[in-house]
Amino acid sequence: MGEAIVTATVFVPRDAAALSLGAEDVAQAIVDEAKTRKIDVTVVRNGTRGMVWLEPLVEVAVSNGRAGYGPVSVNDVRSLFDADFLKGGKHPLGLGPVEEIPYFKKQERLTFARVGLTHPVSLEDYIAHDGYQGLMRAIGLTPADIIKEVTDSGLRGRGGAAFPTGIKWKTVADAPADQKYVTCNADEGDSGTFADRMLMEGDPFCLIEGMTIAALAVGATEGYIYLRCEYPHAHRALNTAIEAAYKEGYLGENIRGSGKKFNLAVRLGAGAYICGEETSMLESLEGKRGEIRPRPPLPAIKGLFGQPTIVNNVMSLASVPIILQKGGEFYKNFGVGRSRGTLTIQLAGNVKRGGLIEQAFGVTLREILYDYGGGTASGRPIRAVQVGGPLGAYLPESQFDTPLDYEAFSNINALLGHGGIVVFDDTVDMAQMARYALEFCALESCGKCTPCRIGSTRGVEVMDRVISGQNREFHLTLIEELCDTMFNGSLCGLGGLTPYPVQSALRHFPEDFAK
Ligand SMILES: Cc1cc2nc3c(=O)[nH]c(=O)nc-3n(C[C@H](O)[C@H](O)[C@H](O)COP(=O)(O)O)c2cc1C
Ligand code: SF4
Repeated sequence: MGEAIVTATVFVPRDAAALSLGAEDVAQAIVDEAKTRKIDVTVVRNGTRGMVWLEPLVEVAVSNGRAGYGPVSVNDVRSLFDADFLKGGKHPLGLGPVEEIPYFKKQERLTFARVGLTHPVSLEDYIAHDGYQGLMRAIGLTPADIIKEVTDSGLRGRGGAAFPTGIKWKTVADAPADQKYVTCNADEGDSGTFADRMLMEGDPFCLIEGMTIAALAVGATEGYIYLRCEYPHAHRALNTAIEAAYKEGYLGENIRGSGKKFNLAVRLGAGAYICGEETSMLESLEGKRGEIRPRPPLPAIKGLFGQPTIVNNVMSLASVPIILQKGGEFYKNFGVGRSRGTLTIQLAGNVKRGGLIEQAFGVTLREILYDYGGGTASGRPIRAVQVGGPLGAYLPESQFDTPLDYEAFSNINALLGHGGIVVFDDTVDMAQMARYALEFCALESCGKCTPCRIGSTRGVEVMDRVISGQNREFHLTLIEELCDTMFNGSLCGLGGLTPYPVQSALRHFPEDFAK
């Protein structure tokens, strides 16, 4: 006795959501308990599977995959060892094979295929799980053929505007210049969104590979990831992964002997919603105050430091490796209409089972809210959901059968944006939510144009009069006129889209404005 009796691999996520729920202490408790029992255990700190309500979700490698236990607290660790969890033993927190959990099994994971499965910053593990196959194929293609694959895939920007990625890349490729850039918009400012963070923390090489392919496609040699400073774990993971990629020649002066060069670095934003808008982001990257640049010229023609620049969201760029690996046609086979591929849906707010769901476009809001989400956390009926961040419309129950598809959402005056869904139960006061949309705009406005800078502040004042019942009909008309002015007269989407939450609240929940 006294010898190690078992060698086991246990996975405890290092994702920020899991850490906030105690994953660090759980990992340490497992190490300590194993030591006390003289059991040889390797604890791998993986990314999250995205089932946030099960975090900390501890997984154990067993003969047929991975057995899950969750949510685990430090107090559960001893009983897990007693139940022989290292061999997949029965325990009240046992979830069975992780990939058989219905919430996970129903998904179509393309962009998130590795997240939660691999060691996030192990290049070896990345390569063992199909990593860098897309880049290696891209190295053998002409830039035009790389762009053709991306165009054929039907990929549209996941940051909000849903602009076709292939067309954007072609514009940069065709712009003559000595220096071009690839920039990644990792500001992820929308309320209820976390897909970018989870990907960067759980599979940072995927983003790095996507950016490298983009660089080869357009002839860029420099790249920056513009990361919000509130993501310290993503920052560390990206920097570690970038260092490893340099060391093994996947970044730098001569990428895997191809003669192509691409240098990549992370830059931190200081925390302003408007710095997620692409031209503001470029200003901020140049070290200036984050303010909108009038367009034209487009960043693709005159972007960072006045040079042709790709600006793409994390999800757009992280979708590129699998498109290059498996071909544009493969990716295009997922989805509906002009919304091709998969959407990474982030389910948050008052919901029983919040988390990350990757599914082909076309799944309905109702399926997401009830089949995945299980209704509200409070147990009360869902009254409204806001889709697409703080500038997205509020949708009532009668619109829950809308498929997640850019055009279907546009037809109901709503937007999918970055795929964030925030759930509210029947205690929500929609007049206050409408007021908050205007207040948010006032707080975050860059101040460059009048409809947004002045309109949002006046809007809050007028909404207060509506809410307090002062000359309500008059003030409601004023709000409608103000929304019209902001929609048509604002220089960018912050002022231009604030009418969406305001008018949808007024249209679908008029009773809340007449109390
Ligand atoms: C107010 C505002 C905030 C935005 N915030 C973000 C953001 O946090 N992340 C992002 O990727 N795009 C954001 N966008 C969209 C970007 O301007 C741009 O469309 C996007 O980064 C382009 O990348 P894509 O084509 O891959 O979506 C925002 C737009 C507006 C108007
Ligand atoms: S709409 Fe608002 S955020 Fe956008 S440019 Fe005008 S003032 Fe700035």
